[in-house]
Amino acid sequence: MALSKDKSVSVSDALDTRITVRAFKDTPVPDDVLMEILEKARRTPSGGNLQPWEVHVMTGKTLEDFVAHGVKYATEGHQDEPTHNAYPPKLWDPMRSRRYKLGEDMYALLGIGKDDKFGRMAQFMENMKFFKAPVGMIITGHKKLEAPQHMDIGIYLQSLMLLAREYGLHTAPQGWWRNWHSVCHKFLDIPDDQEVMVGMALGYGDETANVNNLRADRAPLSETHRFYS
Ligand SMILES: Cc1cc2nc3c(=O)[nH]c(=O)nc-3n(C[C@H](O)[C@H](O)[C@H](O)COP(=O)(O)O)c2cc1C
Repeated sequence: MALSKDKSVSVSDALDTRITVRAFKDTPVPDDVLMEILEKARRTPSGGNLQPWEVHVMTGKTLEDFVAHGVKYATEGHQDEPTHNAYPPKLWDPMRSRRYKLGEDMYALLGIGKDDKFGRMAQFMENMKFFKAPVGMIITGHKKLEAPQHMDIGIYLQSLMLLAREYGLHTAPQGWWRNWHSVCHKFLDIPDDQEVMVGMALGYGDETANVNNLRADRAPLSETHRFYS
């Protein structure tokens, strides 16, 4: 399915046309649009109304410097101890196979073979550039938060992603930044008691980039739901 350039007019459409975009155009996101999205996302619900997210929004020169530093840091062989593991150790099926298939489908679309470690690494490193998006966000939360607050932050992230579709924009959620939090701490005003939870790229998707044709599978209801009556 081709990348949608249209503005979503329903939640159903926003959900259906939201994909993780891994190549953006350099067209800037107008400030008023960015602010409207952020204002609207404040309505995200959270347990006890804690609103545990702290959001760092980068554009322009700050984003440029942030990315340049991140690329240099990684190229020099650095990587941070993740704030949280992306997955449980020794991931099991069916999740393990779903994860494997996503990677294989993406690299197949890009024409990057199994043994092309350099090609895979280069694509992986696009994360560090926020996939060239004009807006990069880092979401942090207090180190003492519990799993339910992590869930709240995930719900907040989904608000941003769906709202973006209403403005004809696309997003890429990025757990990546949990592994590169020192880059975030160097450039952003993150208090010591906060940690990096997730990042997000925001911008106009590049519909000429093949990677954006990836329509990741979803399990049928029969695999993930049980009905009781
Ligand atoms: C919390 C979260 C973190 C993610 N982190 C990354 C990431 O660091 N890099 C990346 O390329 N995709 C990342 N993704 C995208 C997932 O791979 C993607 O959502 C999933 O494969 C489903 O595809 P879709 O978003 O295109 O529907 C992340 C998604 C979520 C929800």
